Amino acid sequence: MWSRSVGVLKTFGRAGNTRAVTSLVPGEPKEPSVITAVPGPKSQKLIDDLNSINQSGSVQLFGNYDKSIGNYLIDVDENIFLDAFTQISSIPIGYNHPELLKVFKDEHKLKTLVNRPALGVFPGDYWPEKLRSVLLSVSPGLSQVMTMMCGSCSNENAYKALFIHYRGRERGEDVDFSELEKTSCMINQPPGAPKLTLLSFHGAFHGRTMATLATTHSKAIHKLDVPSLDWPIAHFPRYKYPLHEHQRDNEAEDRQCLAEVQDLIEKYKKKGRPVAGIVVEPIQSEGGDNEASPEFFQQLQRIAKHNGAGLLIDEVQTGCGATGKMWCHEHFVLESPPDIVTFSKKMLTGGFFHNLEMRPKQPYRIFNTWIGDPGKLLLLEAVLNVIKQENLLHQVQKSGDVLKAGLLDLEKENPSLLNSVRGRGTFLAVNAIDTKLRDNILVKLKAKGVIAGSCGDHSVRLRPSLTFQEHHANIFLDKFRQVLQEVK
Ligand SMILES: Cc1ncc(COP(=O)(O)O)c(C=O)c1O
Repeated sequence: MWSRSVGVLKTFGRAGNTRAVTSLVPGEPKEPSVITAVPGPKSQKLIDDLNSINQSGSVQLFGNYDKSIGNYLIDVDENIFLDAFTQISSIPIGYNHPELLKVFKDEHKLKTLVNRPALGVFPGDYWPEKLRSVLLSVSPGLSQVMTMMCGSCSNENAYKALFIHYRGRERGEDVDFSELEKTSCMINQPPGAPKLTLLSFHGAFHGRTMATLATTHSKAIHKLDVPSLDWPIAHFPRYKYPLHEHQRDNEAEDRQCLAEVQDLIEKYKKKGRPVAGIVVEPIQSEGGDNEASPEFFQQLQRIAKHNGAGLLIDEVQTGCGATGKMWCHEHFVLESPPDIVTFSKKMLTGGFFHNLEMRPKQPYRIFNTWIGDPGKLLLLEAVLNVIKQENLLHQVQKSGDVLKAGLLDLEKENPSLLNSVRGRGTFLAVNAIDTKLRDNILVKLKAKGVIAGSCGDHSVRLRPSLTFQEHHANIFLDKFRQVLQEVK
């Protein structure tokens, strides 16, 4: 373990007082610094260059990933940003963490990275042990795990597991596929390609591949022009804030959404398109950081079980500690683990945990060439060690408390601009009163050296790394306060 930076940084408390702090990542800058317009001239030149090769309208700036460190993203124009968005929520312990930089200095690990096997056919001798000691060591109570490439690919394959399980159960344990099934599936027709469905929620985001896109309902631009599937979509709770003042309304909201889930399951069964699975995020992230109560999820699991549908919890964005628990759904204290839990982003490898029932009987059914990348597991191993040794889940809780309290103060100071502070750990969001204001806040924050994200129609979302500390939270809050003064 590297030794902690003992450099004394100044933190800017709410009352403007300064305190000595110890940074979890050695060599971090003390504070953000922006010396050009954003994007700066070098970024702009690169954007123009890239745009001549592909559609690069989404690129905000070019990073200097040699220089970026800890919670600070440094760009090619030498601007230093406190990064509270971390590459769309996917940097677990900050940039250039010394424990990650060390990994491939080991020759065996380097060769594991270089010689990427087709894991479903020719895995290295290290593979079963690595799956056990790395991934299964953080499994949410599920004995099986498959690695995958990205979040969409994890969900896409997990959906197949739900369907395969459902049909296997209908067909009977030891019954082989019929000849009709084998011929009809080749022309996309039942019974081989059955008319099964998955239930998802309005506002959900599960990916951009064809089946996951059918369960994604956050923004039209993701879906336009792409043919999709007639699968049931229920409303996800939309709570009123603060939660403690609206308990009865929010409980009624839960009941209404759950009743709709049950109705849709019955309706689709009658249509001859039974629901094989329910797919849900513990906090709808891209769709606006929409939360639901533990009771909502407990009841959803009961409905799924009662109707013979599998429950897939998509922890691609919420997983790996940002809510203060390794898996966000652990906050819900479910009666039993979900049937499938998908992951990616901060886990560095995509994949999914599942129970034994979701395991196909035949090989090659959940399969692709690489099925993940052992090099990513080696990095994840180092990440999990750092999380444990530095007690980062506790750190997330502490930083999250400072961040949330500060956001609530800002909301109180600016009721005509902000509302609905919400979230767990550092996985937090606040609404601006409209999209224009939200977008303006994000631009102005960036000009002051802070990167935050957007989600839904008008929310600012925070997705810092697990090494984001209280002093980072205070810097963020000070900059946010300055921006709010400007836009008032
Ligand atoms: C909850 C959730 N599921 C799935 C995905 C898709 O992951 P990827 O972009 O890696 O395909 C995302 C991406 O933001 C996500 O937030």
